[in-house]
Amino acid sequence: MSRVVVTGAVPEAALDKLRAEHEVDAWSEPVSIGREELLRRVAGADAVVSLLTERIDGELLDAAGPQLKVVANVAVGYDNVDVPACAARGVVASNTPGVLTEATADIAFGLILMATRRLGEGERLLRAGTPWKWGMFFLLGSSLQGKTLGVVGMGGIGQATARRAKAFGMDVVYQSRGEIDPAIAQELGARRVDLDELLKVSDVVSIHCPYGPGTHHLIGAGQLAAMKSTAFLVNTARGPIVDEAALAEALSTGVIAGAGLDVFEKEPQIHPALLTLENVAIVPHLGSATVETRTAMAVLAAENVLAVLRGGDAVTPIG
Ligand code: DGY
Repeated sequence: MSRVVVTGAVPEAALDKLRAEHEVDAWSEPVSIGREELLRRVAGADAVVSLLTERIDGELLDAAGPQLKVVANVAVGYDNVDVPACAARGVVASNTPGVLTEATADIAFGLILMATRRLGEGERLLRAGTPWKWGMFFLLGSSLQGKTLGVVGMGGIGQATARRAKAFGMDVVYQSRGEIDPAIAQELGARRVDLDELLKVSDVVSIHCPYGPGTHHLIGAGQLAAMKSTAFLVNTARGPIVDEAALAEALSTGVIAGAGLDVFEKEPQIHPALLTLENVAIVPHLGSATVETRTAMAVLAAENVLAVLRGGDAVTPIG
């Protein structure tokens, strides 16, 4: 029997799977496990199931010890995991692609609608008890029909967002490191362009690329200035892909029309200007937050652990 450390609360279905074969030490307090406690608990672990709020780096891997075989991150994004440090120690690293694609695309599209149709603004107005009356020019937003969605990063979530955009009558352009399956590009009527063109032609820019050194502040003041002044920016990927201070400035000076954000540069902190601006919809990293999706993510992470501890390959290894 091996020892599996789980760094935060996860659905019982995943814990049951792990407990059927191993000893499980799961942090289940409502507050996050602190770094010190985490380093203490991983000592001697054979597997770690990590949440995206925990940094899995060389220090943690060394604290765990040479018996550590697998780190299973419960997220598709793995910027919290030092993958080369895992590889250098012979530790398998895995993530949870696929199972959160549709839920995250739903939130991307929800934010597109919130931003373009000023839904948050309308709700705040009603909740504040502000007097209002239907009027031809009251809280007018922007239509999506016939507009262009620019998808930055055309992996599974980008494609699922593009599929929703198509159903709303939008044209799709995308920027991505590689070509996507031509059949999917054809189905979506999606045209591959470079980032400069995407920023220039899109009415909504939606970010779906992974975060890493190559995408830090991919969208900064220059890129925002290249967008149409009527355009919207949506980010459901990782906060630091966007220079949040530059975005706040662009939103308050009319460089772009609005934004929808599920992720933030220094989560859980939010740039103070974003809290006061009316033309930005903000939600607290809810991309995968459905019962079904979170269960599927945790179960997939557990399956990764079980596969490696049985001596096989991870189901969804990183890389
Ligand atoms: C992920 O999986 O990377 C999301 O951000 C968490 O839902």
